[in-house]
Amino acid sequence: MVKVAVLGYGTVGSGIVEVLYTNKEVIKNRIGEDIEVKYILDLREFPGDPYENLIVHDAKVIMEDPEVDIVCEAMGGTGAAYTFTKEALSKGKSVCTSNKAVVAEYGNELVELAEANHCNYLFEASCGGGIPIIRPLRTSLSQEHILAIKGILNGTTNYILTRMEQEGADFDAVLKDAQALGYAEANPEADVEGHDACRKIAILSSLGFGKTVYYKDIYTEGITKITTEDFAYMKQLKATIKLLGMSKEVDGQYFAMVAPFVLTRENPLFNVQDVMNAILVTGNTLGDTMYYGAGAGKLPTASAVVADVLDCALHKGIHLHTNWSKHRQELADLSRAKRKFFVRLQNSNESEVKGAFGDIKLLEPIKEGEIAFVTPVMTEEDYDKKAAGFDIVSRIRVDS
Ligand code: HSE
Repeated sequence: MVKVAVLGYGTVGSGIVEVLYTNKEVIKNRIGEDIEVKYILDLREFPGDPYENLIVHDAKVIMEDPEVDIVCEAMGGTGAAYTFTKEALSKGKSVCTSNKAVVAEYGNELVELAEANHCNYLFEASCGGGIPIIRPLRTSLSQEHILAIKGILNGTTNYILTRMEQEGADFDAVLKDAQALGYAEANPEADVEGHDACRKIAILSSLGFGKTVYYKDIYTEGITKITTEDFAYMKQLKATIKLLGMSKEVDGQYFAMVAPFVLTRENPLFNVQDVMNAILVTGNTLGDTMYYGAGAGKLPTASAVVADVLDCALHKGIHLHTNWSKHRQELADLSRAKRKFFVRLQNSNESEVKGAFGDIKLLEPIKEGEIAFVTPVMTEEDYDKKAAGFDIVSRIRVDS
């Protein structure tokens, strides 16, 4: 019998318990023994909940119980979640988590601690919700020199952008729906300002490149400035707007960023809608592979945590190697990155705009007095210089 403790009985924590019991028989067949949830740690009481008798309020009960082999951390935040994770690993208990904030900040240190204690720190659910992406990077792609990772990494913002595009829906109303569906973070600013996607691309890039890509080094822009007018122009371009997290190696230099991008129909990420996420990974000999699935939500995220629980149960006393060195990966200055830009500006005229940006094709204006167009390929620095003299309404990078 494998005994598990779940830290945090919110959306993901309750999902973990549900998946463990819904798939009890499947899991037993895979690992050859039963899994039982022995404790659920939460500050709250849950009267009437089928598992209310498992609720404990003191983490000590879990940490000091030698029967608990595996701890699922679904608390969120980097305070108690980090402290309890360290304590569990120090005692040789494996930890499986969905908490990208802890993984992005302390992932390398916690993996090392797990190795020292012959247990595991696994975090499949920290990126892309239910999508298997951490395990492929750790195993199936470990022979590859990873050249680029690019993805829609946040379910909440993809859900919001999809509904803005399809229904012209109001940003705040759709965000409330995303919260009600259990997609959004406790503080949804983390979703809409891109911080959640930033942590995810930091984790994926660290595993892909093998060195710590620190989330605070990554340029991050959210979706709060995207409007339904921007989407109206997208119809003319046969394009859409998605929040992308990306990192790549170009001539030995590493770039990483999170920002909204214009994607045309040929883009493999174009059709990824609603809460779905997708991640495109490019290896030097494999080429492109893409991973797709529910990027947020109770059961998909919980399913990914439970996959890690099975791995821990099957590898008791054996540390599974993760290629994540503590050395910090330097990131190149984004001003040298080259791309096209979708631009809307006002209080100017065609000849001034063409004088600055070249012989660009103007889009049909959807607001009086506006000039909208896509620039030729240029560096971010060049764009900033050219745009400096104009009254810019909107500027969105174009993904190639
Ligand atoms: N708030 C996150 C999202 C949850 O919307 O993607 C899954 O990490």
